[in-house]
Amino acid sequence: MKIETLRILRCPDGCKDELTLHSTQNEEQAEVQTGLLECSRCGNRYPIEHGIARMLPLSLRTQPANSDVEVQCKQSEMQARDDQAGHYDRIWWLNLFSRIEIPATLAMLQIQRDDQVLEAGCGTGRMTPDFASRCRRLIAADYSWQSLLRCRRKVLEKNIRNVDLIQADICHLPLAANSFHRVVSCQVLEHIPTPESRDRAVSELARVSTAGGRIVLSAYQYSIWMRLFNHREGQHDGGIYFYRFTRKEFQRLLSAKMRVKRITGALQYHFLAQCAAFEE
Ligand SMILES: C[S@@+](CC[C@H](N)C(=O)[O-])C[C@H]1O[C@@H](n2cnc3c(N)ncnc32)[C@H](O)[C@@H]1O
Ligand SMILES: [Zn+2]
Repeated sequence: MKIETLRILRCPDGCKDELTLHSTQNEEQAEVQTGLLECSRCGNRYPIEHGIARMLPLSLRTQPANSDVEVQCKQSEMQARDDQAGHYDRIWWLNLFSRIEIPATLAMLQIQRDDQVLEAGCGTGRMTPDFASRCRRLIAADYSWQSLLRCRRKVLEKNIRNVDLIQADICHLPLAANSFHRVVSCQVLEHIPTPESRDRAVSELARVSTAGGRIVLSAYQYSIWMRLFNHREGQHDGGIYFYRFTRKEFQRLLSAKMRVKRITGALQYHFLAQCAAFEE
């Protein structure tokens, strides 16, 4: 975790306050591998392990005794993603789909060399190197710890040095407002379990974007083909919640918080939306 990144980290537990770093490392060093971040307002503490800041909100740090449906679904997905992290990169049809999906996403995102980019829900890093190689700095966040460790390995193996990973819930981003020129989130919104939490996620993605910044989001499409063979809402293996959107629903979800420029559904499997954060 680069010291430069620490400057834009904020407490995820409501107060969004600045954090103080406690680390035994030499202060001159540009990166922190192990340490503790403490919120100056509420006193909550967030560890840094393997260079990754672990910044889940309190609700996801506690044991799964919580009766809240949103929390239960999220904890179930976190566990499933951790268990399946080793399998994710070997899903053959997803690797095939990547050949069209990744260029289409990059074409919409139009990353510029000097951009600071957020990838929300990076998973095991299927797309992370493609984003990182085009920008100045990439922050990639996910709430699955095992997925982040795989993503970290992938990035290090490719000798990519401009990426910092954060363990976070995209509905409570531990990041300062107006920080990113580009925000991208692929195949994540369909796993956010309630209409209220989906609104909160989109609102958070808009909040951390610079005014007018480009935001590219994708989510499952409830297409004619999907209607024939699949449910609209349900759970994948291991207890991963999903929801498939109609174009109208996806448009409505996004347009409440950002300017929607275009939505393409040509690939049938998902919608890909190009948006811009409101100017004020
Ligand atoms: C289908 S995977 C997509 C991963 C990656 N974007 C890709 O396209 O390969 C969905 C990812 O979103 C993450 N995720 C789902 N809900 C999340 C949330 N509320 N906060 C952070 N990550 C979340 C999951 O852990 C998982 O890694
Ligand atoms: Zn706090």
